[in-house]
Amino acid sequence: MFRFLPEQASEVAPKVDWVHHLITDISVFFTVAIVGSMLYFAIRYRRRDGEDHETPQIHGSILLEVAWTVIPTLIVIYVGYYGIKYWRDLREVPENAFVVNATGQKWFWQFDYTDPSVAEHGKRTIGELYVPVGRPIKIVLQSTDVLHSLFIPAMRVKSDAVPGLYTYVSFTPVRTGEFPVFCTEYCGKDHSAMLAKLHVLPEGEFNRWIADDSDRLARLKMSPAQLGKRLYSERACNSCHSLDGSRVVGPTFLNLYGSTRSLASGEQIVADDNYIRESILNPNAKLVQGFPANMMPAFEGQLADEEITALIAFIRGVTGEAQAAPEPAAAPAAADLAAMSPEERGRVVYNTKLCVGCHSLDGSKLIGPSFKGVFGSVHQMADGSEVTVDEAYIAESISQPNAKVVAGYPPAMPQLNLSEQEIADVTEFIKSLK
Ligand code: CUA
Repeated sequence: MFRFLPEQASEVAPKVDWVHHLITDISVFFTVAIVGSMLYFAIRYRRRDGEDHETPQIHGSILLEVAWTVIPTLIVIYVGYYGIKYWRDLREVPENAFVVNATGQKWFWQFDYTDPSVAEHGKRTIGELYVPVGRPIKIVLQSTDVLHSLFIPAMRVKSDAVPGLYTYVSFTPVRTGEFPVFCTEYCGKDHSAMLAKLHVLPEGEFNRWIADDSDRLARLKMSPAQLGKRLYSERACNSCHSLDGSRVVGPTFLNLYGSTRSLASGEQIVADDNYIRESILNPNAKLVQGFPANMMPAFEGQLADEEITALIAFIRGVTGEAQAAPEPAAAPAAADLAAMSPEERGRVVYNTKLCVGCHSLDGSKLIGPSFKGVFGSVHQMADGSEVTVDEAYIAESISQPNAKVVAGYPPAMPQLNLSEQEIADVTEFIKSLK
């Protein structure tokens, strides 16, 4: 009865749920028993006309009083014992725990992979948390502005993120998959949108992910304006500053650059590079008239110089005129490709030619079959025949996707027009995914 908790994805989850259900069941039992007998007696012994029912005088019952003292005491001790025991399981962090730092900021979560084993990669993600399965994880929490709270229901962990204090949650994920992460402390306008996603990956895939610096390389190749556009959404500037002239919390970015601003102090100032830079680092220094102070978090120490430059370049381009061409997929230059192994080139093809949208690398079923361990495996086709996945089959499936469709999948793959080189590279990449 009353089993409404979400999926159990951490080692401690069944224990937490067991205590939770125990308390719920005891509470429901006593609520029904007490309210039920109350209602029963109210009806059974209600006042009746014309009859004289003298109530007997009862002077206590030792047996009854001992019973209703001792039994609840034993129940409470029992619940308390398991509560403390499992609470310690939740709070005691194994020494080999994998450490990730999580920073709450209005209104997003930033994750830094600071564990000594991977710190060299300097990985940082926003809104997406990646961890390996089967390994104890310790997430160290902090906040740059107000109280936030990190809640991962599937792991049964939650803790406040407090400015000026480190707190933590710890769990051992027992299954791979994606799980929602919430902010559960009201932190302002976009509190309810302060969502993140936890990705629990198989060990090997996690190691590939953490060592993969293609995102960092892609950033290096972006123009400042492209990077600024990315930061605009990544750093949640977009929750307060519109691009279309509408007023949200802060001033719009439309035609902001170079315009003359009337400040709350009565001063007039031109929004040039230095003004924008100061406003990012120390938002309250020069407030525009009509906008409240202390709304924007200070980004002092949060953004690198080139990121500030990128944001300024982006803001400069928000003029309402024809939008710049969409960001090109970050494909490495020909010279870089030549220096890569076929397997690495295959990964680039996988990421840039949209394979990534339908074929997972971790065995999970998306629109198409996962690439994990697919090479050399035998698959049943929709027409009942059986096919071994080899070079020829992969080449055929890329150039004529609907020639042999695996049973259970829709014939949904588009014609891709890959070169022979690209097909060979992707095949090498698929082969490497044992
Ligand atoms: Cu952060 Cu609510």
